[in-house]
Amino acid sequence: MNRHPRTKAIIAKVKMFIKDVARKILRLFYFSISFKLTFVFTAILSGFMLFVVVAVFMGMNYLADFAINNDYRFLQIITDANSVNHFMQLVMWTFVVAYLLGVLLLIKIGTKASRKILGPIKKMTQQAKEITVQNLGSRLDLSTAQDELRDLTETINDMLGSIQESYNMQSQFASDASHELKTPIAIIHGYADLVRRWGKEDKAILEESIEAIKNESKNMQSLVEKLLMLSRSDKQDFSLAKGEFEINELLKEIVRETKMIDRDHKVIEKLDIERVINADRTTLKQAIRVFIDNSIKYTQKDGTITITTMQKRRKFTIVVEDNGVGIPKKDLPYIFNRFYRVDKSRTKESGGHGLGLAIAQLIIDRHNGNITVDSKIGVGTKIFIDLPFSK
Ligand SMILES: Nc1ncnc2c1ncn2[C@@H]1O[C@H](COP(=O)(O)OP(=O)(O)O)[C@@H](O)[C@H]1O
Ligand SMILES: [Mg+2]
Repeated sequence: MNRHPRTKAIIAKVKMFIKDVARKILRLFYFSISFKLTFVFTAILSGFMLFVVVAVFMGMNYLADFAINNDYRFLQIITDANSVNHFMQLVMWTFVVAYLLGVLLLIKIGTKASRKILGPIKKMTQQAKEITVQNLGSRLDLSTAQDELRDLTETINDMLGSIQESYNMQSQFASDASHELKTPIAIIHGYADLVRRWGKEDKAILEESIEAIKNESKNMQSLVEKLLMLSRSDKQDFSLAKGEFEINELLKEIVRETKMIDRDHKVIEKLDIERVINADRTTLKQAIRVFIDNSIKYTQKDGTITITTMQKRRKFTIVVEDNGVGIPKKDLPYIFNRFYRVDKSRTKESGGHGLGLAIAQLIIDRHNGNITVDSKIGVGTKIFIDLPFSK
């Protein structure tokens, strides 16, 4: 028969549905007779048998009463009482044997059913027990699981996936952090040796060493502060002290400070939108500073840094723009990653750890804001920081 494809599809769907329902009913049946319900069934069965026996006897009694009360004429058959007795015994033993067979059958089905259901769970438990930090990459086997159990296995596997991912990130973080700390420690160590050998006589060496040790320990201090901040945020132990303030006033403060510490660049501000926002002033300032510091670091002398604000619906946008070296397109997706630096040698001389943007993003995220980067190599970088504001 040549059926329309749509009809075929509907028939296939109906078939699937019936199959699914049948499978579910069967499973429900299996499920109900397993797990000790076997005994409930047995009780019901014996109750039923008792009922049958009582009904037969009551029926016979009733017939006898009926015969007496209606004064019927009887045809009396005399038979051997022993044979009746034997028959009654046979009936009784048949009941007993049938009952025992029924119980055995139910226990057998129940055990088989519970094994069928509990088998995959046992297997899962065994597999789960074998997963440790050393083999976080292993997953539970899905091949024997069905429907709900498959859902559960998939959920556990997904959960293992995210645990593994964050574990890997954490160990990468720890090893990167140690690596970053190794350099300043080695430098401090080297200068301490230098002072011990020559510094006592040579005043110039002494001065140079003290200066270097001071710089490196300052560098280490700032790195440790950043690491602590990131680790606090990983532990969800990073709270904001939010309050309402005029954002323009904060931006003007940052521009003022920037002009004071950096005289190599032209800092232009276009801040004419007045807006009160609800944020943590100190941490927000820290985030905006990251972008401005980057513009200073990655823009040649006499370059321009512009700070502008824009407003759209319920969004306030701060734009930090520079005409510096720019960021290569291939690096753009990674610049917010911890310890990521486009050019390690270039950053080395400007003293970065590649943590600034990671921290800035964390702070803006916590303010329900958003950061967009627009950058062209050799032309410059434009950072848009969107922040929601209270009405
Ligand atoms: N305004 C910018 N111009 C050019 N490159 C930038 C700019 N901002 C960030 N970058 C690049 O992104 C990288 C990551 O920035 P960040 O997390 O602040 O680390 P760093 O400590 O190196 O400044 C920097 O190393 C730099 O290569
Ligand atoms: Mg930086």
